[in-house]
Amino acid sequence: MTFGHVGQAGHDARNELEQVLILALVAVAGQPGTRPTLPRVTALDSTTVAVLGGTGPQGRGLARRFAAAGIRVVIGSRSAERAGTAAKELADATGGDVTGKDNREAADHGDIVIVAVPWEGHRELLESLAQPLAGKVVVDCVNPLGFDKQGAYALAVEEGSAAQQAAAILEESRVTAAFHHVSAVLLEDPDVEEVDTDVLVLGDDREATDLVRALADAVPGMRGVYAGRLRNAHQVEALTANLISVNRRYKAHAGLRVTDV
Ligand SMILES: NC(=O)c1ccc[n+]([C@@H]2O[C@H](COP(=O)([O-])OP(=O)(O)OC[C@H]3O[C@@H](n4cnc5c(N)ncnc54)[C@H](OP(=O)(O)O)[C@@H]3O)[C@@H](O)[C@H]2O)c1
Repeated sequence: MTFGHVGQAGHDARNELEQVLILALVAVAGQPGTRPTLPRVTALDSTTVAVLGGTGPQGRGLARRFAAAGIRVVIGSRSAERAGTAAKELADATGGDVTGKDNREAADHGDIVIVAVPWEGHRELLESLAQPLAGKVVVDCVNPLGFDKQGAYALAVEEGSAAQQAAAILEESRVTAAFHHVSAVLLEDPDVEEVDTDVLVLGDDREATDLVRALADAVPGMRGVYAGRLRNAHQVEALTANLISVNRRYKAHAGLRVTDV
């Protein structure tokens, strides 16, 4: 495997992630004939997941589910105080290990770093965090969408997609794309025990996409499914506009299932 010039910190992070992934794959291999769900705690319990923009519904919702699954979580925000408040609420609600920091410190602490900010702030935030994110697995869940009287529609992105923009900015990170279609309403609802959806995971680094699949598998009801390379992220991000139309018409929080895998 080649990872470019990631520096010592990046190599250390890479070695730790390789260990985590080996554990995850062993756990998956032990369940022939079943969906590749990962037994919680064992595989990811030494991993810290940081969520940039973790004070918003999507970041908070993902953080809640990961914390409930026994994964250490750091909430990131432009304001350490807002992050601390959100983290305390989630720690109280889940009994999990959740702390709050500003986005830069959160990026420093995360082994896996989820980007959950609005499209409008995506480029600027990532440009400011390229150094702490070097060598890390970055998971972009940002959907570049516009809204008008007809509903949601996909925006054209110069790089092709939000995930490709992230990869262009974060040259030394291992950028993946996932969690675009997961409803924040369901993630945040304490009465929802299982989040019934597959999660399409994209990326050009097999080890990184396998790790993100394992992260999705850690949430009851969710399953991570590899869905192609980053150059195919545009239509995955854009499909969210269709799901928003489904949700409006049927008053639902629709998820996705991929059949025959
Ligand atoms: N909501 C959903 O159901 C859903 C589902 C799938 C994917 N997504 C994607 O997930 C991302 C977050 O969604 P959301 O609904 O949670 O968004 P949001 O509430 O609008 O924003 C999330 C957080 O990002 C921070 N933020 C706001 N503007 C920013 C800027 N210009 N630069 C940096 N940080 C900024 C804010 O935190 P601080 O003020 O504390 O920094 C905010 O709490 C979006 O890109 C969306 O497309 C959302």
